[in-house]
Amino acid sequence: MKSLKIGVCGVGNVGGAVLDNITNAPDIVRDNGGVNIEVSQVGARKGKSVVPFDLDVTTNLMDIAANSDIDVLVELIGGCDLAKDLVEESIRKGKNVVTANKALISTHGDELFQLAKDHGVQIGFEASVAGGTPVIKALREGLVANKVNWFAGILNGTTNYILSKMSDDNSSFEDALKEAQDLGLAESDPTMDVDGTDAAQKASILSALAFNTPFDFRSVSYEGIESVSSDDILYAEELGYSIKHIAYGSIEGDEVHVSAYPTFVSNDQLLSQVGQQMNALEISCDGIGSTVYYGPGAGPKPTASAVIADLVDIANGGWPETGSAGKKNKLLKEGKQEFSRYYNLEVKNEAGAIAKVSALFAASDISIEALIQKESKQTNQEQSHVPVIIITGPLSDLNALQMLENLGSVEEITNSVKQFRIHNAL
Ligand SMILES: NC(=O)c1ccc[n+]([C@@H]2O[C@H](COP(=O)([O-])OP(=O)(O)OC[C@H]3O[C@@H](n4cnc5c(N)ncnc54)[C@H](OP(=O)(O)O)[C@@H]3O)[C@@H](O)[C@H]2O)c1
Repeated sequence: MKSLKIGVCGVGNVGGAVLDNITNAPDIVRDNGGVNIEVSQVGARKGKSVVPFDLDVTTNLMDIAANSDIDVLVELIGGCDLAKDLVEESIRKGKNVVTANKALISTHGDELFQLAKDHGVQIGFEASVAGGTPVIKALREGLVANKVNWFAGILNGTTNYILSKMSDDNSSFEDALKEAQDLGLAESDPTMDVDGTDAAQKASILSALAFNTPFDFRSVSYEGIESVSSDDILYAEELGYSIKHIAYGSIEGDEVHVSAYPTFVSNDQLLSQVGQQMNALEISCDGIGSTVYYGPGAGPKPTASAVIADLVDIANGGWPETGSAGKKNKLLKEGKQEFSRYYNLEVKNEAGAIAKVSALFAASDISIEALIQKESKQTNQEQSHVPVIIITGPLSDLNALQMLENLGSVEEITNSVKQFRIHNAL
């Protein structure tokens, strides 16, 4: 039986679940993974009071990086400050590292993997994307024989939960967010979930594995779900779509584009069926076509499951070098990918107004696939404006934004126009 001595840094939601699993159910990992994992030391700045097990606890987390008795440092504190110092120092001291920290990997991955390579150690980061659903393992092991053409994923459980509640129960955005927080799905500060940063960080990690790009989340273009209204959800349903926050990556030649936006997903797509806090990732490759991975994307137990899987892998010899093979492809911010689009506008209720709007689309060489005038919500006799939904043919993000700007200068349009991508069958 192989054995592994670990030091766990951070005893929060995930750290607590890792300790709980290893301490209370060691037989499962021994039987399934053939590894005996022993917790040599725990780093908790509040000390023993937050560690409900009889373990050696230090309040100085750097002690763990320095402890020569430890094979693997498990970083579960988050952020890029102390976490980065801990990981670097551990690697320099010849330790392997396991982390759930998507912010760290998506920002500093390249330098950390180079450092690990130089010191002959490994970094496991399965828990950084899609929690308990092994998508990293799928990309770097199961699909290693295939060229990935694109991936599309729901990578943030909180936003998926909010959009599901808005759709299933007609909840407002605010009520759905509050419920997600009450259930412990959303952070007390949910900014990085709601504004799309979390999904963008995860998408950049997937890109590094799928397309051999640098780890660089700043080259991902993204938006959050704040602009999605109940009306958009209703109109989407009427048209045969669900609104999901979709991270999308694709490669053409050596150019890779990765983005994360609220997106209309047609109901014949598997991703449209992914509700509540669940995550899903579709990966399309040459030869085998699409494979889809579905499961819990966050939460202490699913995340701990991924951390422990990495530990077992390390004990069993680890993985091929991350991102080392061949040349690096370019991760470019300016998206050339073309998507059909949904535009939501309000137009003055007067003769010729809608014709003027559709003429503007035609002048920009954008085909209109559907133009639907909705019933006005105004109750007064004189309805001054009407909602209009326009579905276009495929156009790039750049052209879609240009069109938004053009629409902004039409005096017959009375709202701030919204535009979302449409993810049709590919
Ligand atoms: N929660 C999830 O579902 C989930 C899913 C996937 C990935 N992750 C990732 O897992 C990591 C941990 O998340 P979490 O939810 O467990 O966070 P958490 O509950 O906030 O726990 C973080 C722990 O780290 C400690 N810590 C933070 N900064 C520290 C510092 N500068 N010095 C010493 N200790 C420090 C905290 O100590 P105090 O208690 O003293 O503040 C706390 O014990 C993050 O990278 C997160 O992105 C989480």
